[in-house]
Amino acid sequence: MTASAEEGLTVAVAKGRILDEAIPLLGDIGIRAREDPLRTRKLILEADVAPGWPPVRLVLLRAQDVPTYLEYGAADAGIAGRDVLLEYPGEEWYEPLDLGIARCRLVVAAREDDPRAQATAPGSVRVATKFERIARRHFAKSGVRAEIVKLYGSMELAPLVGLADRIVDLVATGNTLRANGLRAVEDIADVSARLIVNKASMKMKASVVKEFVAKLRERVEASR
Ligand code: ATP
Ligand code: PRP
Repeated sequence: MTASAEEGLTVAVAKGRILDEAIPLLGDIGIRAREDPLRTRKLILEADVAPGWPPVRLVLLRAQDVPTYLEYGAADAGIAGRDVLLEYPGEEWYEPLDLGIARCRLVVAAREDDPRAQATAPGSVRVATKFERIARRHFAKSGVRAEIVKLYGSMELAPLVGLADRIVDLVATGNTLRANGLRAVEDIADVSARLIVNKASMKMKASVVKEFVAKLRERVEASR
């Protein structure tokens, strides 16, 4: 049975940085997991909720899986980074709210000593990234021929060992780029965590979903 057909609200949250920052947000609107989400090995956490709310459960996922759960109706709502949403092949959800947490930027970066570092320079470049679709779209728009090399982490290493000329990666403080002698040469997108909602849940559970969105919006706007 899909989440949409069940009682209550199932919220999929990306583990890691987003979960760390989402827990206080959810807590402030009265949704508190009964077990510490940062310690437990459980993947479904029942939550204590404010009076008048239906049952709420949090499901903890790899960031990249949040859109999939939403698309298939296995969760009513989800919290994931804009990077992950842009990379996902499809957009089968509503995105009613920018939560303003886990802020960073998607950039193209190159070695500090790379003389051709403007990514818009003609010719072709080899680009290492875990954001294959985003990178492909970005370079196609700039008219640059790009060979994309898919990696799963530590992208900053690739230009240092000659695996790639550029990387497409997330930057927050810039410390990782600096520590590895790289610099951002182009901005692709601002990133923050977004609330997304399953389209069927928006219809079938309209009142609880709308109240959930409204309460989160109020909380997010109060901290702006
Ligand atoms: P995985 O190993 O599953 O790929 P991850 O390394 O992407 O996980 P996190 O580092 O926790 O997991 O990142 C999750 C999300 O947090 C990203 O999708 C992005 O939206 C955001 N994020 C990533 N890096 C940073 C950062 N340095 N500062 C702020 N937010 C970040
Ligand atoms: C992310 C990102 C960068 C780093 C940027 O990596 O991929 O490497 O954070 O943050 P900074 O600009 O503040 O240094 P993460 O720590 O999530 O490691 P991983 O993606 O390699 O797992």
